[in-house]
Amino acid sequence: MAIKQVLKMGDPVLLAVAKPVDRLDTPELHALIQDMHDTMESLNGAGLAAPQIGVGLQVVIFGFEKNQRYPDAGEVPFTVLINPQLTFLSEEKEDDWEGCLSVPGLRGMVPRYAQLRYQGVDQYGTVIDRNVNGFHARVVQHECDHLQGILYPMRIRDFRLFGFTDVLFPGQTVIDD
Ligand code: NI
Repeated sequence: MAIKQVLKMGDPVLLAVAKPVDRLDTPELHALIQDMHDTMESLNGAGLAAPQIGVGLQVVIFGFEKNQRYPDAGEVPFTVLINPQLTFLSEEKEDDWEGCLSVPGLRGMVPRYAQLRYQGVDQYGTVIDRNVNGFHARVVQHECDHLQGILYPMRIRDFRLFGFTDVLFPGQTVIDD
């Protein structure tokens, strides 16, 4: 168990495309997921992708019961998703605020597909195949973007809706991502 340093925007490692995991249920994979879990929990994050701690593999984790950073979001089950594949189920997109542990202190308005199917496996090889919408779909797209070297500011369409969390949302309890 270890809390790792989260790489911040500007680090070229965050722009690399991650490789698929070819061996599941190994000690190395379990250790990686434990580190990711510990790191995400220590920062009160909603999700984390392996490249954010410097590991270029297609592994993301996400989920929360009630997240202080996203007080209006519904619950998302804690999920380990490896080698994900996304299928968008409609052309419809929704705008909402996003933050990222690699872009601390900022929020931006990001369009995301409203409905999608995601498939993959967990660390034991159990198949994951879900149709989701809303914030769950948003989190999956955000985390899987990290595996393609894409950070949410690269998805922003209107940069008037991008700024510091404490300025955008004055008076709210601000957690430094
Ligand atoms: Ni992120």
